[in-house]
Amino acid sequence: GAAIEVDVSAIPPGEKVVVEWRGKPVWVMRRTPEQLAALEKIEADLADPNSDRKAYPTPEYAKNRHRSIKPEILVAVGICTHLGCSPGDKLTPGPQPSLPDNWQGGFLCACHGSTFDVAGRVFKNKPAPDNLEIPPHYYTSETTVLIG
Ligand code: FES
Repeated sequence: GAAIEVDVSAIPPGEKVVVEWRGKPVWVMRRTPEQLAALEKIEADLADPNSDRKAYPTPEYAKNRHRSIKPEILVAVGICTHLGCSPGDKLTPGPQPSLPDNWQGGFLCACHGSTFDVAGRVFKNKPAPDNLEIPPHYYTSETTVLIG
């Protein structure tokens, strides 16, 4: 299959680009130092902080707090592990699913209210059975990541 190349140097802090890989939207996001620091604060509220669950197995190189090779760059499939909606990073109009008390920002799936931190780790007591999928990827240079 075709691997997708992304230049991560073009992604501003706090922003993400979406590329298509095997028909799925893949997010490549540059997290800010504040967003990375927040990952530690919410760990007690997460269902699987160490990415041990196997519904969408996390590659060994992403089994860490930031779920990535480079701490600041997240590469994740932007599809909720519950029933396949695409989580957003904004609240949508209409009834609001409740956010965790200790919400530090992240991704909200408006379909049934699953919430994920900025590493794609799902919060406890949410319908999504697993963290967001991390697709196979590696860096071919300091700034170029190959997905697939
Ligand atoms: Fe995301 Fe159900 S599809 S919570």
